[in-house]
Amino acid sequence: MNAPALDVPGRASYSAQVEDDTLILRPRVQRADEVLRSTRAEIDLSALGHNLRALEELVSPAKILAVVKADAYGHGVVPVARRLAAEGAYAFGVALAEEALELREAGIQNEVLILNGAYGSAHREIVEARLTPVVYEREHLARFAAACPDRVVDVHLKIDTGMSRLGVPFWELSAFLDVIAEHPNLRVSGVMTHLARADDDPEKTASQLARFHDGISMVRAFGHRPVTLHAANSAACFRHPESHLDMVRPGLALFGYPGAAVQEHSLRPVLRFRTEVLSLRTIRVGDTVGYSDAFVASRQTRVATIPVGYGDGVFRSRSGRGDVLIRGARCPLIGKVAMDLSAIDVTDHPDVALHDEVVLLGEQGEERIDAEEIAEWSGTLAYEVLTSVSRRVPRFYR
Ligand SMILES: Cc1ncc(COP(=O)(O)O)c(C=O)c1O
Repeated sequence: MNAPALDVPGRASYSAQVEDDTLILRPRVQRADEVLRSTRAEIDLSALGHNLRALEELVSPAKILAVVKADAYGHGVVPVARRLAAEGAYAFGVALAEEALELREAGIQNEVLILNGAYGSAHREIVEARLTPVVYEREHLARFAAACPDRVVDVHLKIDTGMSRLGVPFWELSAFLDVIAEHPNLRVSGVMTHLARADDDPEKTASQLARFHDGISMVRAFGHRPVTLHAANSAACFRHPESHLDMVRPGLALFGYPGAAVQEHSLRPVLRFRTEVLSLRTIRVGDTVGYSDAFVASRQTRVATIPVGYGDGVFRSRSGRGDVLIRGARCPLIGKVAMDLSAIDVTDHPDVALHDEVVLLGEQGEERIDAEEIAEWSGTLAYEVLTSVSRRVPRFYR
């Protein structure tokens, strides 16, 4: 049963649906005038298109499978996938079956690989939705072969070449291929592996790729004719041309970061995270800011309070670490990051006023803070910075 749309004060509107006595609220697409909070993530879809083209140029003639798991690394999977499909991405990769089904529901017709291999009991649904499972457990083979016995089911076989998480261990490959042979309706249309250190260890990468090629030879020796061989993540796109093969699987690079120290690249960050100054005060020497008295003023200090905290994806570990941009200048975070609020020292910028824009990630004037820099301040990776921008931060698409 569909209930009417619900407007939640102070938030964007939700569509409400009742299923099995459970009320399900889904945020509706938000319009600027529906959102009361000044905090938002701005997603630059033209930068996304630019990054796709930059990668195409880099890896051609290899095709591009755009990795859009985890809500497209926090950017919002539906608008991102639609744009990438329109710009010519060949295929999509997600971690979960649910994420793959969401792409189909959004009208994405491209090939979609389910990279992680957790299928629950949805094998038939996956085949019927023309999603491509990645297989590496015997259970996968039996379940997909039985899901649609009268149909050829295309699968991509994952070989573990040195990451020891997912994939058929190399030394078990021959036995696994024997089991595949018991299921004549399974077609190995692709073979893949994942690289553990494409960003920083050429030797390990070379040994993984060598093992991958040995594995491919074995797959062929069993009579399979896989048309798509793939191994490269973002870092490998840039650092290991020999890994490009038929298709590459960039995720992070599409969103503007190469995933490795790269001398030169033209990628553009897609996400900009901004808010506005909520309150201003001047405190005296010895006054403290926020919880735990973590900041004690050693001079008369002008404090700007901003309405973002760890509930929005600004890590607690940022307490007293790093900057934001206000009026084109870097201003330091002070005190503890709280759930909804953080404090900025704007003593050196007397012009700062209520409602001034505050950029946490992105450009303002001549200055720029990117996800790599935030990751360094926070003791994490750009991946986690991007995927942590929380659900209560409305996404605006340009
Ligand atoms: C199997 C697989 N391929 C490709 C990627 C994309 O990696 P990156 O975002 O570093 O390009 C991932 C992400 O972790 C992955 O799990």
